[in-house]
Amino acid sequence: MTDQPITLPDDFFFGAAMSGPQTEGMWQAHGKLENLWDLWSNRDLRAFHNRVGSYAGNDMGTRYAEDFRILADLGLSSCRTSIQWSRLMDADGRLNPAGAAFYHDLFAAAREADIEVFVNLCHFDMPSYLFRRGGWESREVVEAYATYARTAFAEFGQEIVHWFTFNEPIVEPEQRYEHGGWYPFHHDFAQARRVQYGISLAHALAVDAFRELQAAGAMRPDARIGLINCFTPPYTRDDPSEADLEAVRMVDGLHNRWWLDLVTKGTLPADVIETLAERGVTLPVRAGDEAILSRGVVDWLGFNYYQPARVQAPARGFDEWGNPVFADRYVWPDAVMNQSRGWEIYPRGIYDFAMTMTRDYPELDWFVSENGIGIEEDRAARTADGEVDDLAYRVSFVRNHLRWVARAIDEGARCRGYHYWGVIDCWSWVNAYKNRYGFVEVDLMHGYDRRLKASAAWLRQVATTHVVA
Ligand code: FCB
Repeated sequence: MTDQPITLPDDFFFGAAMSGPQTEGMWQAHGKLENLWDLWSNRDLRAFHNRVGSYAGNDMGTRYAEDFRILADLGLSSCRTSIQWSRLMDADGRLNPAGAAFYHDLFAAAREADIEVFVNLCHFDMPSYLFRRGGWESREVVEAYATYARTAFAEFGQEIVHWFTFNEPIVEPEQRYEHGGWYPFHHDFAQARRVQYGISLAHALAVDAFRELQAAGAMRPDARIGLINCFTPPYTRDDPSEADLEAVRMVDGLHNRWWLDLVTKGTLPADVIETLAERGVTLPVRAGDEAILSRGVVDWLGFNYYQPARVQAPARGFDEWGNPVFADRYVWPDAVMNQSRGWEIYPRGIYDFAMTMTRDYPELDWFVSENGIGIEEDRAARTADGEVDDLAYRVSFVRNHLRWVARAIDEGARCRGYHYWGVIDCWSWVNAYKNRYGFVEVDLMHGYDRRLKASAAWLRQVATTHVVA
C-alpha cells in the first residue's frame, strides 16, 4: 500500500454517522416512550460506564442546528441518523405528532446547513412495551415495525431521499440473545436466530411499504432504500483445516451472506439454514414468509466496518448453555489492537470486503456507512490551543482505511462514499462516554459544549479536496 497521497472520485461523498438514541437525549420529551435503553438504564444504571445511561445522548436534541453547521464547516455533505421509533409513534402504534414535529425541525435545520440527512429507522432501540409483547419473535411486533416504517415514509417522504430499514441487524440477536451482553442477557443461540428471522421479515415488509408508497407518489421519486450492517470479512489461520473453513462458512453465512442474500435476492442462504437445522436450530417459518422475504431487495447498502472476524474450528460442539458452537475466535499473532475497545485495527478488511462485493454482488452500490476509532484517553493530551491532540491515532486510522477504499474503487468497487462514526463525540451504549470517536469533542463538564479536536482540520482538508494525504 502506497504512502503517496491518493485522490477519491469527485462524486464520492463524505459525511457523519450517528443515531437517534446515541445523540438526541430528551428521553421523555415530545411524549417519547421508553425504549430498551431507557428501560435498562432505569433498572440498573451501574451497567453503564460512569453510570451514564441513555437519557441525554450528546444533547443533540437541543443543539442540532449547531451540530449540522459544524458538520458543514468540516466540509461534510451528509449525515446519517435514525428516527427513534419510541419518539415517532405512540403507545397505540399511531403517529405521535409532537415527535414528528421534532424530526421535521431537525431535518429542516440540516437542509438549512446544506447537510443531506440519511434516515435509518431502527438502531437497537425498540420501544419497551413491544419488547414485553415478545420483541422480534412476535409477528405482532414485526407488523408494528412495518406500520412504523410506513408511517415514517408517509410523514417524511417528501423530505428524505436515503432511507435504511435497520442498522446492524446482526447485533441485536447477538448482543441481547446470544452473547448475553445486553439486556435481557440471554444465552440462547436458537432464540437469537428466531430474532434474526423476525428482523429479516420486518426489513422486507418495510421495503415493501416503501415501494408501495413511492409508486403511489407519497414519496420522492428519487428516494432509495437500503440496509446497513457491520459486515465482517471473515479470516482464519494461514494454513486452514477443513473444519476451520467450515467455521468461516458459518460465520460468514450468519453475519454477511444472510443479509446480502436477503437484500439482493430476497432469500436467505440455503446452506446456512440447512446447517442450522442439522444442529437442531429451526426458524419459525410460516406459509407466506417466502413471499414476504422476496420483497426485501434494496437499492443500495451501507457497510459499517470496524474490525474483521478471525475464526477457527470450535474446540467443542456445544457451550455451557447447550448452544451449538460453530466457530471459536482465532487470535492472529500479528493483530494490531485498539486497546480501548478491544477491536482489531485491520484497514485491509475494508478492501477485502469491497472485492467480495464486486465479485459476488457486482450490481450493488454501497458506501462505508460507519468507520471510526474510539479512544479512552482521547482527552488526556492537548495542543497548546487546548484542542484534544488526537492526530497520532485518529488521522492515521481514517487515512489507512480510505487508502484501501481508494484502491478498491480503482479495481471496480461500487463504493460511493464514507461516513465517519461519531464525527461529534456521542454516547456509546454500555460504554457511554468511555471511548471518544469524534473529530469534535463534547465537553460533559461544560454543558456538552462542542470543540474541534486537532484532527478536525485534516478531515476538512480530505472532505473538501478528496485528496487523502
Ligand atoms: C457500531 C454501532 C454504533 C456505534 C459504533 C461505535 O457497532 O452501529 O451505534 O456505537 O459501533
